[in-house]
Amino acid sequence: MKLLVVGSGGREHAIAKKLLESSGVEAVYVAPGNDGMTLDGLQLVPIGISEHSALIDFAKANDIAWTFIGPDDALAAGIVDDFNAAGLKAFGPTKAAAELEWSKDFAKEIMVKYGVPTAAYGTFSDFEKAKAYIEAQGAPIVVKADGLALGKGVVVAETVEQAVEAAHEMLLDNKFGDSGARVVIEEFLDGEEFSLFAFVNGDKFYILPTAQDHKRAYDGDKGPNTGGMGAYAPVPHLPQSVVDRSVETIVKPVLEGMMAEGRPYLGVLYAGLILTADGPKVIEFNSRFGDPETQIILPRLTSDFAQNISDILDGKEPTLTWTEQGVTLGVVVASEGYPLAYEKGVELPEKTSGDIITYYAGAKFAENGKALLSNGGRVYMLVTTADTVKAAQDKIYQKLSEQATQGLFYRKDIGTKAL
Ligand code: AMP
Ligand code: GLY
Repeated sequence: MKLLVVGSGGREHAIAKKLLESSGVEAVYVAPGNDGMTLDGLQLVPIGISEHSALIDFAKANDIAWTFIGPDDALAAGIVDDFNAAGLKAFGPTKAAAELEWSKDFAKEIMVKYGVPTAAYGTFSDFEKAKAYIEAQGAPIVVKADGLALGKGVVVAETVEQAVEAAHEMLLDNKFGDSGARVVIEEFLDGEEFSLFAFVNGDKFYILPTAQDHKRAYDGDKGPNTGGMGAYAPVPHLPQSVVDRSVETIVKPVLEGMMAEGRPYLGVLYAGLILTADGPKVIEFNSRFGDPETQIILPRLTSDFAQNISDILDGKEPTLTWTEQGVTLGVVVASEGYPLAYEKGVELPEKTSGDIITYYAGAKFAENGKALLSNGGRVYMLVTTADTVKAAQDKIYQKLSEQATQGLFYRKDIGTKAL
């Protein structure tokens, strides 16, 4: 069987690598992918994620059994609808089902309608009304652009002034374009954040190990928000009872709600949760796998990934098994300056072997040579599995200290909260 993965980051590297390791998979193509992936035998297809008809033509011409869609913007653009209309199978939600991610207001409406615990909120397109709401609620308070904004459309405001300024930037200064033409303003939730993922087909779902991301750029959760600088799974201090409660009060009702709305969900559901004093509550839903969470969750899968996804696509019960060993932890290496301006073209260290995996995100071969160069904000990620968080950290940070990382940076405290 031949498979196609759409996307180009570390998440897609992890998905494609795991698929290629599955039995009965002869080739995995990634569109457009990045050059680092070729070191794992993945085949790049030079077609962008928004070129749906070119991707469909490629899938037909190459006998692709099914396609795994990585990024949210492709899902929001209806790539799954287009594949299905062409008679092709794709693992990911339709545009209507992915609205859980691409409109925060829609997600809120669904949560309220189906009783899913989340922060109290108001949605506004009028600045004066937003301002009045913020002043009435007081701070801390959270202001979010309604649409997709590459993870940057959220302001956790400590003062009323900051919140009003954020609403002004989104509603009047068009800082996020159409994505910020409406804002969701919500109650600040206090507690530990974690991510819960499920593979889903309709009202059937299969829960993955819990994960914790590190979204801020610098140590101690300081600096600007990024796509994610490192993660580990499972979260050792999170009791099973919290996972069970999240499944019962969040995952089940939202998926049943989506069925009832005529928008059955297929693909990966990603619930960003906060464990508050009143139990787990939803910060956001994403309609896809997380990056970097995928890179630390998938190495724990011990069953046949391609078979699992084939089964879920066919509405069969998949046999998913996971390693029992300790924890899987990964540290992202990014270009100095990320998430703001950064240089490209820094030569990267050699790919690791043995029990440390290298996943590539922004990586590109030099024009006349074999050297791999940095070509993006997040560049690569080292991932390992060990008995404890401390042992995993020691392995990764030892390896990173041996690598030449001039022009690059990484956080030194991934997983430290769990120690
Ligand atoms: P999001 O892009 O929705 O994941 O939000 C980015 C970050 O903002 C989250 O990872 C949280 O740390 C924080 N955040 C979002 N919503 C809330 C909330 N209601 N209360 C507290 N923190 C929040
Ligand atoms: N790790 C955060 C995200 O994928 O949105």
